[in-house]
Amino acid sequence: MFNPEVFIKNAIDEITQMAGSEKVIAACSGGVDSTACVALGHRAVGDRMLAVFIDDGLRRENEPEAVETMLKDLGINAKLVHVEEEMFAALKGKTDAEEKRIAFRERFYTILGRIVKEEQAKYLLQGTIAADIVETDTGIKTQHNVLEQIGIDPMKYGFKVMEPLRELYKPQVRMVARELKLPPEISERMPFPGPALSIRIIGEVTPERTKIAKRATQIVEEETQDLDTFQSFAVLHNDKATGIKEGKRLYGNIITVRIVDSEDAITAQAKEIPYSRLKKIANRITSEIPSVSRCLLDITDKPPATIEFE
Ligand code: XMP
Repeated sequence: MFNPEVFIKNAIDEITQMAGSEKVIAACSGGVDSTACVALGHRAVGDRMLAVFIDDGLRRENEPEAVETMLKDLGINAKLVHVEEEMFAALKGKTDAEEKRIAFRERFYTILGRIVKEEQAKYLLQGTIAADIVETDTGIKTQHNVLEQIGIDPMKYGFKVMEPLRELYKPQVRMVARELKLPPEISERMPFPGPALSIRIIGEVTPERTKIAKRATQIVEEETQDLDTFQSFAVLHNDKATGIKEGKRLYGNIITVRIVDSEDAITAQAKEIPYSRLKKIANRITSEIPSVSRCLLDITDKPPATIEFE
C-alpha cells in the first residue's frame, strides 16, 4: 500500500542529499506532477531552489501568470521566463508529430540549461512520472521530459536531473500533492502535456494557429469543468472543411473535442456526454472562433487511440 507520508520523507532526503550545497532549478508547469516536485524541493532545499515557469507561448489562456502567483503564494522562489518567440522559431516548418516533440524537447532543455548556468545551479528538478517513462520506453511516443531513460545525458544541456516522482503513477502523485497540502486546484488538476498545445495542433505550430487552439481549449474546459473527467481538450486539425458564416462560404478550420476518463493515462475511455452539452460546446467554438467552420467529437478509447492526437 502506497504511503504518501513515507514517500515524502524519502523524497526530501533524496533531494537534500543529491543537492548538497548546490542550487536547484525546478521546471514547473503548474500541473500536479511538477508542482508536487517543486513543493518537495522547497521542503528539501528552501530558497536554494528557484522554480521557473517557461512561457513558450503554448500554454493555456492566463496560465503563466496564474502559475507564477500560485508558486509565490506558496512561499516558493519563482520566476516566469518568456521564450515565446524562441519556441515558435524552433517549431517553425515542422509538421511531423515526433519531429515536433523532439524540437520542443531540444529547445525546452536548451532554455533550461541556459537558466541553470545563469543561476549558477547544478540540478534540474522535474516532475517526470512512471507513465511518461513507460510510454517513451515502449516507443508509443517520446514524452518531452524523458532523457536519461532513453540514453540522453542531461549534461549535454549542462545539468543533472532529479526526478523524485519517477516511480509513481498519477493517482499516487495526487496523494502526495494532497499530503503536501497543495490547493485542490493543483492536486486534482487535469493533466496537461509538457509540450502543451504544440501536440494539439496538427501540422505546423504558428502563433496564429496556437491562438485558435487556445481559445477552443478554454471553451472546452469551461464547458466541462463540472464533469469530473480525467482530461478534456480541443485539437486543431491540419485540414479544412467547407462551412457557411454570415451567408458566405468559409473553407474553415476543424476542431475536435476530446473528453476522456482514465485512472493513470495508460488506458482511457471516451466519456459519454449529454448531447445538449456537446451542442453548446460546438456552438461556442464555431461562433466564438471566426476561422472555425466545424466541430467534431472523438469517441475513441485508448487503446486503440492515445489520449493526445500526436
Ligand atoms: P497519451 O497521448 O500518450 O497521453 O495517451 C498520456 C498522458 O500523458 C500526457 N502526455 C504528455 N505529458 N509530456 C507530458 O508531460 C508529453 O510529451 C506528453 N504527451 C502526452 C497526456 O496529456 C496524457 O495525460
